[in-house]
Parts: sequence; structure tokens; C-alpha cells
Amino acid sequence: MDKFIIKSTNSLNGQVIIGGAKNAVLPLMTACIINPGIYKLNNVPILRDTLTMAKLLKMVGADVKINKNTFTINTEGCNSPYAPYDLVKTMRASFYVLGPFMSRFKKAQVSLPGGCAWGPRPVDFHIKALKKMGAKIELSGGYINSEGELYGADIVFDKSSVGATGNIIMAAVKAKGITKILNAAMEPEIDSLIEFLQMMGSDIKRENDGSVVITGVKKLNNRVTYDVIPDRIEAGTFMIATAMCGGDVTLKKVNPNHLSIVTNKLIEAGADINISNDIINIKMINRPNSVDMTTAIYPGFPTDLQAQWMALMTVARGSCTVTDTIYTDRFTHIAELERLGAKIHLDNNVAHISGLKKLIGAEVMSTDIRASASLVIAGMFSTNETQISRIYHIDRGYENIEKKFNKLGAQIKRVS
Ligand code: UD1
Repeated sequence: MDKFIIKSTNSLNGQVIIGGAKNAVLPLMTACIINPGIYKLNNVPILRDTLTMAKLLKMVGADVKINKNTFTINTEGCNSPYAPYDLVKTMRASFYVLGPFMSRFKKAQVSLPGGCAWGPRPVDFHIKALKKMGAKIELSGGYINSEGELYGADIVFDKSSVGATGNIIMAAVKAKGITKILNAAMEPEIDSLIEFLQMMGSDIKRENDGSVVITGVKKLNNRVTYDVIPDRIEAGTFMIATAMCGGDVTLKKVNPNHLSIVTNKLIEAGADINISNDIINIKMINRPNSVDMTTAIYPGFPTDLQAQWMALMTVARGSCTVTDTIYTDRFTHIAELERLGAKIHLDNNVAHISGLKKLIGAEVMSTDIRASASLVIAGMFSTNETQISRIYHIDRGYENIEKKFNKLGAQIKRVS
């Protein structure tokens, strides 16, 4: 298993090109199943997760050709609406096949994802909504067996859910009648899915109140070319790293609108940020100020940047709190940050952090994608050397993270 050996970094300087969004491309890939056709996705990040999704699509009968960052997905031969436990357990987003399977085959056998590294992550909203649309669903042997013609329905999610919104939109594209999703997720990745499905010929509208209305259509286009939107979480990770290590970094190919709250929080922390079109420049000279942060659904602060923000706050002037309201037990990084000397006290879903002037390198362990990113950032700042094991987690969500940081002046070595 690979690990990172990270030496202390004085500051980060230079330019970094941000890749396509993992959380946008995964549902786009499964959306290709809905209609037999050839779909070309540009700006796809080469990650463990996008490769796992390609593997799953191939199992379903698709042909996936990868040329640099372009995936050409031919779904004409898809014939097996089945997603096995082996794949779903390694990547929960595999569950995004459920809606497309029901849409194209009127049946699906998909493994339940089980829990994740930081706790339970239910899929009850997906199941309840599909049942309301007419699916007959049985749970047996750890699998969801679903079948039946789908009909439009009014779906109300108790909580805004990215995955459930995406799955139900995909299920509704060819359902009979009109489906209205209330309390639908507002995340840019969902709007990107809607845009792709519209290019496929679906009839989908986002209402002023945020609800999504899908009128089922019979026929869809079998050729679409789409550019994946920039990864706001990768961009936010590089911005927070620059705020922690100091320096002057220009991020290219970003969508600054998707990062408004992160930008504002970093300005509060003392960063100087300049934005033009698809470029963000961040400069940081002084030690960061302590800034309280609470995660929230979009446009709130993303839970996927909570761990990175906490790393930054461990070296801020003063003390603050970091609260996660989306995943109230997503805190496995705390014990690892403490190994670097951080002072953090967790009270339910609120972490109380007392900022220190320095962290001291140690051996730590990755526990999930974003927790690993927080350790890389903290490791670059720490004195001496930090070793991070189990970095396969980080490879799920960041393309060449060490190469990108090293180009900015970091010293991160990958060893087997
Ligand atoms: C997606 C992202 C993940 C991000 C999360 C929140 C992908 C591939 N993953 O995950 O990186 O951290 O959004 O922004 O895009 N819930 C239920 N029942 C359900 C579904 C969700 O109770 O059936 C709850 C969850 O436990 C959580 C909240 O709803 O508290 C939001 O979760 P959700 O938006 O569904 O997360 P994912 O789509 O799994």
C-alpha cells in the first residue's frame, strides 16, 4: 500500500489547474445508461472512483473508452441492471445506477451500500421515492430488488439529499407523467446533471423555489458531448492549503460562483482573494484568524471541506468551533490531527479548536477522502516529517494531488 512522506513546506506558490468534479461526473456516467447511445464526457478526472464507475458500467454491458480526460461511453449494449456488493461497498456513488436502471430496464438489483468510514449513510429516501413512483421493491440478501413501470409523483425529501435527488431525477426522465421533487438538492453537481439530461432531450425544470419538475419523455438523444464542471472541493482544498502554508497561488479552470462561501470564510481568516472569470488567486501572508464554521447544504459551507477547514483552524490565532450539520459524526480526522499536536475537543457534532503556532510531524492514517486531504495540508505545514498511510482514500477523489502540490513548492513523496 502506498503512503505519503511529507516534509515541511515554507509556502505554496504558482498555478494549479483544477480538474473536473468527481461528484458531478459519477451521476453523469450512470445517466448514460438511461438511453442506448454514445456519450462523450470531457474534463473527467482520472480517479479511483471514476475508474470504478467505468468498471461498473462495463459490467452492465457498456463500452467505456478512456482517452486522457475524455470518457466515451457507449451504452447501446447495456443488458444487465445489476450492481454487486463488491463495487458498491468500495464506492457508495455506485448507487447512482438505481434510477437509470429503473428508467431503462424497469428493473434493478443493486447492493445496499452499507455504512461508511464515519458512520451510517442511509438510502431510505431513494427507496421511498421510487416506491411512490410505482416501483415494487424488496430488500433481500443485502440487495435492493426493484421492478415495475414508473409513474410521475410528488416527492418530498425530509432532508435535502444530493444522491436521492440525482437518482430520482434520472428515474423520472422517462416515467409516465410529471414528477415534482420538493426540497431537492441545490448543489451545482445536481444542476450539472440536469443540464446533461436536458442535452439528452429530457424535460426538466428547476422552479424558483428550488423544486425540480420532470416531465417524462419517450425518446432521448443518443449522442451528447459534455464538459464536466470544475471540482469545487479540489479547488477549496488548494485554497485552504494556501491559507495554511502561506503563499500566492492561482487556481485556473474553476467556477468561483460555486465557492462563494469558502472564499468569504478564507477572507475572514485573513486571505487576500482576487477573482476573474474562471480564475481565483489567493495570497496569505499572516497566521490565519480563527473563524467559526458550520457546514450546510449548498450554498452553505460544504461538509466535504470540513476536515480541511479544521486543519487550517488548528494553527489559527485564537479558538473557534467547527460544526458539521450534514454528517454529524464525520470527525475521524480529529484523532489523526491530534497526533500532529492539534488541540481539539469534540462535543457531539461541534469541534472546539484552540489554535497553535505549529504542528509537529508524525505518522498518521487516512480514513476517508477528505480526511486524508486535511492530513496532507496539515502535514505540509508541520515541522519535521509526516507520513500518511492508506492514501488509496485520497486517490479516490484527487487526481495527482502530490504532483499538483509539489509544483507549488511542496515536498510530498509517494512510496510503496
Ligand atoms: C453526496 C456527496 C458527498 C457529500 C454529500 C453531502 C457524491 C458522490 N457524494 O453524498 O461527497 O459529502 O453529498 O454534500 O456526490 N440521507 C438520509 N437518507 C437518504 C439519503 C441521505 O437520511 O436516503 C441523509 C444523509 O445521512 C445526510 C444527508 O441526508 O445526513 C445528506 O446526504 P446526501 O446529500 O444524500 O449525501 P450523498 O448524496 O450520499
